[in-house]
Amino acid sequence: LPPHVVQNKLNEGKTKQIFELVDEPGLVLVQSKDQITAGNAVRKDQMEGKAAIANKTTSCVFKLLQEAGINTAFKKLHSDTAFIAAHCEMIPIEWVCRRIATGSFLKRNPGVKEGFRFSPLKMEMFFKDDANNDPQWSEEQLLEAKFTLAGLSIGQCEVDVMNRSTVAIFEILEKAWATQNCTLVDMKIEFGVNVRTQEIVLADVIDNDSWRLWPAGDRSQQKDKQVYRDLKEVTPEAMQMVKRNFEWVSERVQLLLEPQASGRVVVLMGSTSDMAHCEKIRKACTSFGIPCILRVTSAHKGPDETLRIKAQYEGDGTPTVFVAVAGRSNGLGPVMSGNTAYPVINCPPITPDWGAQDVWSSLRMPSGLGCSTILSPEAAAQFAAQIFGLTNHVVWCKLRASMLNTWVSLKLADQKLQACTI
Ligand SMILES: Nc1ncnc2c1ncn2[C@@H]1O[C@H](COP(=O)(O)OP(=O)(O)O)[C@@H](O)[C@H]1O
Ligand SMILES: *[C@@H]1O[C@H](CO)[C@@H](O)[C@H](O)[C@H]1NC(C)=O
Ligand SMILES: *[C@@H]1O[C@H](CO)[C@@H](O)[C@H](O)[C@H]1NC(C)=O
Ligand SMILES: *[C@@H]1O[C@H](CO)[C@@H](O)[C@H](O)[C@H]1NC(C)=O
Ligand SMILES: *[C@@H]1O[C@H](CO)[C@@H](O)[C@H](O)[C@H]1NC(C)=O
Ligand SMILES: [Mg+2]
Repeated sequence: LPPHVVQNKLNEGKTKQIFELVDEPGLVLVQSKDQITAGNAVRKDQMEGKAAIANKTTSCVFKLLQEAGINTAFKKLHSDTAFIAAHCEMIPIEWVCRRIATGSFLKRNPGVKEGFRFSPLKMEMFFKDDANNDPQWSEEQLLEAKFTLAGLSIGQCEVDVMNRSTVAIFEILEKAWATQNCTLVDMKIEFGVNVRTQEIVLADVIDNDSWRLWPAGDRSQQKDKQVYRDLKEVTPEAMQMVKRNFEWVSERVQLLLEPQASGRVVVLMGSTSDMAHCEKIRKACTSFGIPCILRVTSAHKGPDETLRIKAQYEGDGTPTVFVAVAGRSNGLGPVMSGNTAYPVINCPPITPDWGAQDVWSSLRMPSGLGCSTILSPEAAAQFAAQIFGLTNHVVWCKLRASMLNTWVSLKLADQKLQACTI
């Protein structure tokens, strides 16, 4: 261990050890072990290099989630086999989320065939209790357990937040794996309470112990730990195959961080007096990781220039969403929309005096035009992001996480208000 790490072990489980960091209070070092277990450690083998592969998987997955905007314990990589995370008191529940029925679900739900597809996702939870083989719990059992961790009582609000977060995290990882033609079948995760902020965050790890992945939706090509669980006999050849599968995952997991498609927003403004409005669009685009270019052109006063600018952006092959910002009479958006197959969003800067009349120049279109009109500059950028999100999973993941975070903030705001009122 590096010098600044105090060898004060806080915790040790089947697959990792947790150390305190002396010079960084509130953070811990999560060290993976070169050991693979199945059936609650009934089967146990050393696998050289497993820790390193697990590290890579976990760090890439947490990076993807973090960049999307999901609140996680992960801070940064530390070494080949360890990362630094927020110190959490762990909530002793495994949250399981399933898209496709397989494994233990089939045993617990006889009659359901393997491959049954859950839409919405199926949620289950299991109490982490090795002695009793991690029994399945209902929401009521979790509430009645009245856990308090890092000073936070786990009540209905906290349970709802974990349930919702699990769904969002699954959908983000599912979308990311789909870019590799890989089906995320199911997933299990754990939450902790950050000891400093008392926030519920995704903690522990996500590696291929944590999910089932079927390349091309084909069970026989599974690349996850099930291969190991299913081994009849643990031979060196068999362990090599398991390890190759894990390596397959760790190579692909890095690709999840890369957007599969590029795109840009081009904002056309009729006059520089609309600059502040346009800067808001640019700022919001940047928050979604979408490049945004601002141009000045008037369809009334310089239509030749408007069409030349249009041709410039149509000509280089980059998928583009145009946003037209024109006050008074919006000729810009409709002229663009009538002359390009790319999407056009009208985002007129509405003024209090004539706004109610001016808006009709953006709403009432000649036939054959498909432009939309969005008044808020942030919302126009969000709509552009949603268009790119159809093909760019990195943008989609940001939109999905933002939806979760909005839901959680509303929930917490309400809880706080109720506490004050009582
Ligand atoms: N960020 C964290 N802060 C504190 N404890 C953690 C953190 N991440 C994981 N842990 C805990 O470290 C312990 C060791 O992990 P693991 O080997 O997976 O244990 P188990 O065998 O119980 O699953 C677990 O109790 C786990 O909850
Ligand atoms: C641990 O993961 C990170 C992130 O992918 C990587 O940079 C590092 O090389 C990994 N270590 C090993 C041995 O894979
Ligand atoms: C999670 O929420 C869904 C939808 O509200 C609910 O049906 C389900 O029972 C919850 N699951 C758990 C395990 O609490
Ligand atoms: C993706 O999966 C489908 C099956 O769902 C398969 O037919 C196809 O060949 C795969 N494509 C690639 C690029 O691997
Ligand atoms: C997948 O999970 C296995 C099982 O724990 C782990 O050993 C491995 O490191 C992970 N594999 C990859 C490639 O990430
Ligand atoms: Mg564990």
